[in-house]
Amino acid sequence: MAEPTKLIIDTDPGVDDAVAILMALAAPEVELLGLTTVGGNVPLARTTRNALALLQAAGRSDIPVAKGASRPLRGRFKYAPQVHSPGGLSRRLPEPAARAVKEGAVQFLYDRLTRAPGEVVLVALGPLTNLARLIWERPDALGQAKNIVVMGGAVNTPGNVTPRAEFNFYSDPAAAEIVLSSRLPVTLVDLAACRQVGISREQAMRLRSDHPIGRLTLELLQGWFKKHPSRQRFEFYDPLALAIALEPAITTVAKVDLDVSLEENESLGETSETGGPGEITLARQVDSARFFGLLEGLLELEGFQPT
Ligand code: BDR
Ligand code: CA
Repeated sequence: MAEPTKLIIDTDPGVDDAVAILMALAAPEVELLGLTTVGGNVPLARTTRNALALLQAAGRSDIPVAKGASRPLRGRFKYAPQVHSPGGLSRRLPEPAARAVKEGAVQFLYDRLTRAPGEVVLVALGPLTNLARLIWERPDALGQAKNIVVMGGAVNTPGNVTPRAEFNFYSDPAAAEIVLSSRLPVTLVDLAACRQVGISREQAMRLRSDHPIGRLTLELLQGWFKKHPSRQRFEFYDPLALAIALEPAITTVAKVDLDVSLEENESLGETSETGGPGEITLARQVDSARFFGLLEGLLELEGFQPT
């Protein structure tokens, strides 16, 4: 049997982060080494609590959670309670009994990456503050990752938080710029990729699952539609990044060089191609049938009708 993929998810749950984490927990070929948290969708105390609560609800409180940055490299996070609800998740989960481990996210990442050089896949689903701090504090550590898959940026497509910027990169543009200019092997899953894998309200509400993790996922997804009666579509932003980490062939890619705007004006967080070829692997054309096939299979979803 093939060795399981060692995975760490850096995250700010967040409804779509939660779906991605649950996919990883349901994947038999994944060994989830831990979650590192960052403020973003909601404050750090809440993203950390949600990470612990999700693991507990999935029966996996054995997986460590390490607390990361409560603030971006500059300024403060702006949060998105209007998208994810004030608690960050669309359903109240029981209070977690476990706590975050003593080591912070940067130390945790350093330790796990260097303990298994070339083996760990790191998936970053929130503002990139923890990764940027790791580059500063332990410059050699991230290079030990097998792959780094980042959800963030809006390249050649409108943003979702400002007309030009995507939420994760807008939340900490300086950190995004540090990671993208690091020459590390980053796969970027931006909004243009993620917008290829949405689900309609009607279709989401029809789904059923007998798998415990599938049921929990549907409670969150369907709970989100119930909490937001005017929204008709849920985009699988973070789940797509997770899926590409597991099955890179889900998307075509291009090698590009990207620049993140740090200007304190309407371009803040904007992510643009500089024109030349580069080190970043940018997701382009997503095989949405393959993504939904993976989602459906891992979570044992019934009632799925690909559109
Ligand atoms: C990203 O922003 C967050 O709200 C989501 O969790 C996702 O990581 C999409 O722009
Ligand atoms: Ca996220």
